[in-house]
Amino acid sequence: MKFIIGVSGGIAIYKVVDLVRKFKKRGDEVRVVMTESATRFVTAELFREISLEPVMINVFDNEEVASHIKWAKWCDAMIIAPATANVIGKLTAGIADDALTTVAIAMTKPLIIAPAMNEAMYRSAAVTSNLVTLKNRGVKIIQPSTGELACGGEGVGRLPEPEEIVKHVDDILNVQKTLQGCKIIVTAGGTREAIDPVRYIGNRSSGKMGHAIAKVAAERGAEVILVTTSSLETPPSVKVVPVESAAEMRQVVLSEYNTASAVIMAAAVADYRVAEPSKQKIKKSDDTLTLELVKNPDILLELGQNKRQQILIGFAAETQLVVENAISKLKKKNLDMIVANDVTAAGAGFGVDTNIVTLITSNGATEFPIMSKIEVANIILDNLKNFLNK
Ligand code: C5P
Repeated sequence: MKFIIGVSGGIAIYKVVDLVRKFKKRGDEVRVVMTESATRFVTAELFREISLEPVMINVFDNEEVASHIKWAKWCDAMIIAPATANVIGKLTAGIADDALTTVAIAMTKPLIIAPAMNEAMYRSAAVTSNLVTLKNRGVKIIQPSTGELACGGEGVGRLPEPEEIVKHVDDILNVQKTLQGCKIIVTAGGTREAIDPVRYIGNRSSGKMGHAIAKVAAERGAEVILVTTSSLETPPSVKVVPVESAAEMRQVVLSEYNTASAVIMAAAVADYRVAEPSKQKIKKSDDTLTLELVKNPDILLELGQNKRQQILIGFAAETQLVVENAISKLKKKNLDMIVANDVTAAGAGFGVDTNIVTLITSNGATEFPIMSKIEVANIILDNLKNFLNK
């Protein structure tokens, strides 16, 4: 998920530092927009360091044109924490006189606010009535908790702990842990078959599709084992097993297979490997060099032959007769679903962030328009959930 966190100037800001870390740790992307007064408590540099994204304080400081609109479009939701009485007042009145309120007013996605202030301020007629107005407009409000207040004494007005805010946000956005309790093996990237200690036979697969599936599956609560040749970033909750060759990939996948609920083979596995890779670097000598290749085991075929409870999803990267070829693979490999794509189409296949896929099951084929690989991952996992429920 992509979040904009709007930070206004309250003492509870220290909890928001941890909140940003928590979102980042599970693989969410976070950008912070701060009010001037928030910068009195915490520097923009700190948020920049932990979010690894630019921090906005003033819309005019940013070199981009209309950066507030771009930010609002970029995210899946905006969370304002802590939301001070001042910010709540401005949101209610539609005032947009700084970066935070300007981004907030440009939001078309869910706006979630976590008010935090002194009890008397929180209970004041102005704040109470503003919160009612905001709620009626669809703004989601995370109620402050009760306890010791920074200004002394006890009362309502504390910013909830970061893990509680994360939970509220997930509930509000309906990020359901639909794959909780499932163990999913995902493979990603192109295998590398050694020719000698420095050279290999590879392919153009970047691993982006498989890594997107691993990320979304982890967000949905699955235990994810990502067997990959790619070094793309993954959320810490994903168990990453780096591999190089098809043989290594096969070994890892088989060792986890018995207890798996599903295997999604997004990797581009080499069909052939060099029969006897040289132990030393091959020297340049004759004008031609002949390599003998032998067939690699088909991992997915083997999984299909030994299938019990597991749901099997394969990929068919094709350059012609996409659907026909995919259907025959679905049958031959005993799969539940195959994701077919024409890797020669613009915006699909290797290296890009988008894909154009057709999902094929025994019930038929469904074609999808160009989508981000994250969106494709969501659709694949929706289908997987249906298979697991059957
Ligand atoms: O037969 P084809 O290679 O086109 O099938 C593609 C699917 O099979 C992909 O899901 C790929 O990960 C998997 N595969 C495999 N082992 C191979 C070749 C492909 O598991 N040796």
